[in-house]
Amino acid sequence: MTVPILRRLADLRAQHATWIRAGEVVGVVPTMGALHAGHLSLVEAAKATCDRVIVTIFVNPRQFNSPEDLAKYPRTERADAEKLAPFDVDVVYVPDPDQIYPDGYATSVSVEGITDVLEGTFRPGHFDGVATVVAKLFLQTGAHKAFFGEKDFQQLMVVRRMARDLDIPIEVVGCPTVREDSGLAMSSRNMRLSVEALEKAGRLYPIMTGCADRLAAGETFDQIEPEARAALQAAGFGEVEYLDLRCADTLAPLQTPTRPARLLVAAWLDGVRLIDNIAVPQLSD
Ligand code: PAJ
Repeated sequence: MTVPILRRLADLRAQHATWIRAGEVVGVVPTMGALHAGHLSLVEAAKATCDRVIVTIFVNPRQFNSPEDLAKYPRTERADAEKLAPFDVDVVYVPDPDQIYPDGYATSVSVEGITDVLEGTFRPGHFDGVATVVAKLFLQTGAHKAFFGEKDFQQLMVVRRMARDLDIPIEVVGCPTVREDSGLAMSSRNMRLSVEALEKAGRLYPIMTGCADRLAAGETFDQIEPEARAALQAAGFGEVEYLDLRCADTLAPLQTPTRPARLLVAAWLDGVRLIDNIAVPQLSD
């Protein structure tokens, strides 16, 4: 079965109107394409709780930090449509660029505070690009529910805050990270890793879970950080941009997981920037 692809907002709106008249619940899964099992798990979650599911594919230039990164981003529309076919998705919305950023487009959505740290430090302007396009996709699709991966934990927080602050009537649902057998979080960027680099990348998750175990056993973050960084270097990683223990609700730094906590990392491997995060079991007081 082929999936209907729409490229114009007016066509999406016309389709959406028929669903709303029928009282149906509409879900949206925003993506930049190059779909893998992580994205497909969001589609599955959407199908489980919504009558209609829209998958959006738009490589959003405003959230990239360099023209090279944007140019290198994989574009695999036909393969993506084939991967979506078995899921019985109702519409794949692949907007033409002018449907998102028409001539003279001048508006940006910017979320303060939680965007100042982690990814925000290393990717200035990135979250403005994300918040802007996601706000537009929420308004264009008129969905009741939107599905995002915990893989991009800070993005999930930013999108939730943005929807709440702008009174966009949508429920933002967070879904668990899908991993390779090695534990490596699935990512479109993994396609750029060589076989050897993929093997090295597989060390990241065990190093992170090792950290989480020690934190859960009462060691402080300062105690474990030097060894964790050394383990990443030994595994073949280059620069570690951040390795942090943060409050899962505010992203404030933590020494011990006395509140719901998240261990988050961004590190370079063979010219590819990998990010990951895991929950750390909470210590009772
Ligand atoms: P993209 O990187 O294509 O990711 C689309 C969605 O898939 C995001 O919600 C992301 O968190 C989720 N995802 C990616 N890898 C995952 C994995 N291994 N397990 C579970 N979910 C995973 O994130 C974006 O696109 C863009 O920033 C976007 C939100 C579409 C705005 O342009």
